[in-house]
Amino acid sequence: MLFLRLLPVKYNLAMKEISKEEFRLSVLTGIPDSLPVAKPYEPDVNHAPKRKDILTECEKVLALKNALRYFPAEFHSVLAPEFAEELAAYGRIYMYRFRPDYKICARPIEDYPCRSKQAAAIMLMLTNNLDDAVAQHPRELIVYGGNGAAFQNWAQYLLTMKYLATMTDEQTLVMYSGHPMGLFPSHKEAPRVVVTNGMVIPNYSSKDHWEKFNALGVSQYGQMTAGSFMYIGPQGIVHGTTITVLNAKRMQRAKHPSDKGVLFVSSGLGGMSGAQPKAGTIAGVVSVIAEVNPKAVAVRYSQGWVDEVFTDLDSLMPRIRKAVDTNEVVSLAYQGNVVDLWERLAADEMYVDLGSDQTSLHNPWAGGYYPVGIDFELANRLMAEEPDKFQEEVRKSLCRQAAAINRLTAGGMYFFDYGNAFLLEASRAGADVMKGDGTFRYPSYVQDIMGPLFFDYGFGPFRWVCTSCDPKDLATSDRIAADVLERLIQTAPADIQSQLADNLHWINEAGKNKLVVGSQARILYLDALGRVEVAKALNAAIERGEISAPVVLGRDHHDVSGTDSPFRETSNIYDGSSFTADMAVQNVIGDSFRGATWVSIHNGGGVGWGEVINGGFGMMIDGSADADRRLSSMLLWDVNNGLARRSWARNQGAMDAIRREMARTPGMVVTLPYIADENSIKAALKQIES
Ligand SMILES: NC(=O)c1ccc[n+]([C@@H]2O[C@H](COP(=O)([O-])OP(=O)(O)OC[C@H]3O[C@@H](n4cnc5c(N)ncnc54)[C@H](O)[C@@H]3O)[C@@H](O)[C@H]2O)c1
Repeated sequence: MLFLRLLPVKYNLAMKEISKEEFRLSVLTGIPDSLPVAKPYEPDVNHAPKRKDILTECEKVLALKNALRYFPAEFHSVLAPEFAEELAAYGRIYMYRFRPDYKICARPIEDYPCRSKQAAAIMLMLTNNLDDAVAQHPRELIVYGGNGAAFQNWAQYLLTMKYLATMTDEQTLVMYSGHPMGLFPSHKEAPRVVVTNGMVIPNYSSKDHWEKFNALGVSQYGQMTAGSFMYIGPQGIVHGTTITVLNAKRMQRAKHPSDKGVLFVSSGLGGMSGAQPKAGTIAGVVSVIAEVNPKAVAVRYSQGWVDEVFTDLDSLMPRIRKAVDTNEVVSLAYQGNVVDLWERLAADEMYVDLGSDQTSLHNPWAGGYYPVGIDFELANRLMAEEPDKFQEEVRKSLCRQAAAINRLTAGGMYFFDYGNAFLLEASRAGADVMKGDGTFRYPSYVQDIMGPLFFDYGFGPFRWVCTSCDPKDLATSDRIAADVLERLIQTAPADIQSQLADNLHWINEAGKNKLVVGSQARILYLDALGRVEVAKALNAAIERGEISAPVVLGRDHHDVSGTDSPFRETSNIYDGSSFTADMAVQNVIGDSFRGATWVSIHNGGGVGWGEVINGGFGMMIDGSADADRRLSSMLLWDVNNGLARRSWARNQGAMDAIRREMARTPGMVVTLPYIADENSIKAALKQIES
């Protein structure tokens, strides 16, 4: 056994601590009048992999012209060769030289230069997304998921910050895939920022289109909370993963009762996937997570999210057995390829309770998935230099992975797709993951757990951020939310009692779990009533001065109404409409005229470019009556839009939930479905045939 004692990855090598005034001046400067000194490459920082060389010579000229349009002509003789070099070396032009020297992180809202408090709140959220402690590849402006970007380059960041610092509540900033198109006159009721990410003409939405448009500097993959400035570090995903693993465990144990520990096997210790071992521990299971990147393993181990690290399977197997036999709650990392792990588990005929995968298969060709049998560094070179060979290796690897998983599910394992496009990409690779009727052999976690238990009742990843950056405010907000939940649980209908109870437990334990990384943020799965009640209570506490500064409300796009994604969020929609994207688009339009401070709509997020349309919002509340009015109106719509659609799709939970929502909400009249008898339909069709 090789038990690693790894040091935390060092960050912040070239970041200066500067005064508040210097910070403000730097923000207001935007793109500087004279060229800043070039930045050295920082080998200790987790950098994005080199992207493949996809542009033709003509397109490379275009990419450089596009990049240079941010700068006056006198800079071009220096910048043109520098950007050409970046394009050749990294496949993208990040404009590293223009990364500001100040430490990028969420600061107290008072520190941001502003004429609009709402804009200052957005700056806080945006800088949090790019904090070295929060972002996955901070120098390349990648927040999570390998390619989930806040901006395409540093010029966009500088310009955006300057616009936000100078805009008023009578203007709206328009952002196209990280590019700030500009400020336009609007009005106080309008969103301060409207974000679109990766929106392309539908026929031009293949993975290579993303590579090309992104290399040209005209589009970006915003993931969900990356390009919408709503990422709150790992706690969002820890909470979501905890309730998923907890409910999967309950389901599995109901089918296979046992006194032994529940074994959960998966892969990925990256931005989101790194939550699995921590969540596994909170949910009380033995988790074994494979990860090929030693830097990612080191980060999670140094955080204490992984208890033990193994680099060889011969040592790992007896450790797993011991933990399961003694019902020990522990998280084990296998530093190696997950295919090797699955094949060994299958060869040893180990009984695995729960299995999943959280490699970044939404991005299979550019660093999201590392094929088995190829050294990590070599794989990084191969994907850029010999992309066809690399893709072939990924396909072979996926086939082997699926074969091993199939052997274990035959022995009783419950395997679920974890919203990373595993089944989609495995099926495209020719792996044995399909049923005879053309559907996947395994469910997604939304089909079995998140959809029927949470989304169909309006429960989703609501969150808030205390803009004072003061942990005391967060603790106060936790207490307020717990009080609201305790009150709601008294009269809640039976079908949502367990969801409320799990979330009450979460919020009561939240402080103890020490999940805050970056901004003072909290996630809590709530339904429409819960979100409105908690938000109102927070607003009242700000008014009383109990919370010292405004609070930002928001949510992950991965929610009841925000996302149309047939292989994830809407995979439990069975009326044939799962490939439509009306819900996500309607959601963002509706939020924008009901009081959101900013809104965003993205192509891609979670399962990949072209596979999903998702949207979200942010709303600053400041204790005013106006904030109370806005939050009530907007949050109600933001959840009930999705409930209405899920109910129309004949999902039983949603039909019940939307009836309750209509009963308590004057003015809401939703079209409800009549349920037809399937046997009569089949008989009718037969009659016509004969
Ligand atoms: N279920 C959800 O709620 C949810 C939420 C967010 C993200 N996701 C999806 O999960 C995936 C992972 O997200 P992330 O932010 O952690 O991405 P990430 O890129 O930060 O992490 C994925 C990790 O998998 C590792 N990996 C790749 N191939 C491997 C292999 N063959 N064996 C072992 N390790 C391997 C990578 O080295 C990387 O560290 C993405 O596709 C994302 O869209 C799901």
